[in-house]
Parts: sequence; C-alpha cells; structure tokens
Amino acid sequence: MNRIMFVCLGNICRSPMAEIIFRDMVNKAGRSDEFVISSSATSGENVINGVGASVYYPAKKILEEHGLSAQGKRAVKLNAADYDDYDLFVCMDSGNVRSVRRIFGGDKDDKIRMLMDFTSRPGDVSDPWYTGNFQTAYKDIYEGCEGLLSAL
Ligand code: 4NP
Repeated sequence: MNRIMFVCLGNICRSPMAEIIFRDMVNKAGRSDEFVISSSATSGENVINGVGASVYYPAKKILEEHGLSAQGKRAVKLNAADYDDYDLFVCMDSGNVRSVRRIFGGDKDDKIRMLMDFTSRPGDVSDPWYTGNFQTAYKDIYEGCEGLLSAL
C-alpha cells in the first residue's frame, strides 16, 4: 500500500487539487487498491472550530473544467500523529517542506518530498493564491502527479 499525503499551506487550493487529480489518475490506471490518498495544510487558518473550509472556488472550478469534483473536501491541518500513518508527504513548495519538518520534529524515515521533483522541472508548484493562475497550477500539479504515479 502507498499512503500519500499531499501538503500545502492552506489545503484549499494546491494540495486538494493534487489529491483529487492523483486519485483520478490512480483510478483510471486501475490501481486504486494500492493507494491511500489524502491532503492537508501546514497552517490551521482554514479550520475554524474543527470545521475545515471547502476548496477555494477558482480551484474547484478548474477541477470541474477537467471533469473532476472537489465536492465534500474540507481543509484539515497536518499534525504530528500523521507521520506514521503515511509513507510520503508530498509538498507543493519549499516553504511547505520546512513547515512539515517543523510539525514532525524532523523526518526520521525520509518521507518528505516536493511534488515537482517527480518532473523534469523541479521547484515549487506555481502558487495560484499569488499568481491567480489556476490553469498553470493545474498543469504543474498534473505533471507532478504523473511523475509520482510512475515512480510508485
Ligand atoms: P494553498 O493556497 O496553500 O494552495 O491552499 C493558499 C491558501 C490560503 C493562503 C495562501 C495560500 N492564505 O494566505 O490564506
């Protein structure tokens, strides 16, 4: 079993997009039995009184344009107890990597990765929160997910 946790700052744009795109890719490859797929935030900003925010509307919209639904996904915060429950923590940018290491107090089993490291162009996923460009983020995330799936 491959247990994959995608991580970004808010869990309302990039990591839910990765979760939903990757799950669809895994399903289409007929490999759903091999994976547990989830996503979470390094910040608790989008979880109020235990209730997580929905996926940010423009992210939801770009997913829908590609035939995918973000229905039901709510933001959750990553916590230290998640470390043993997943095999890989796949981060959207280098700031996420630093935050994830802080939450886990290190990375003793070498589980933290960057999504774009699974492509021919490593670096940060284009952050639509700042660029406003959800199509570019979708393309980055899609490529990263393709690379991740073929690596597993
Ligand atoms: P995400 O996007 O980390 O891809 O979910 C962001 C969401 C919220 C904020 C920044 C990025 N924020 O500053 O509130």
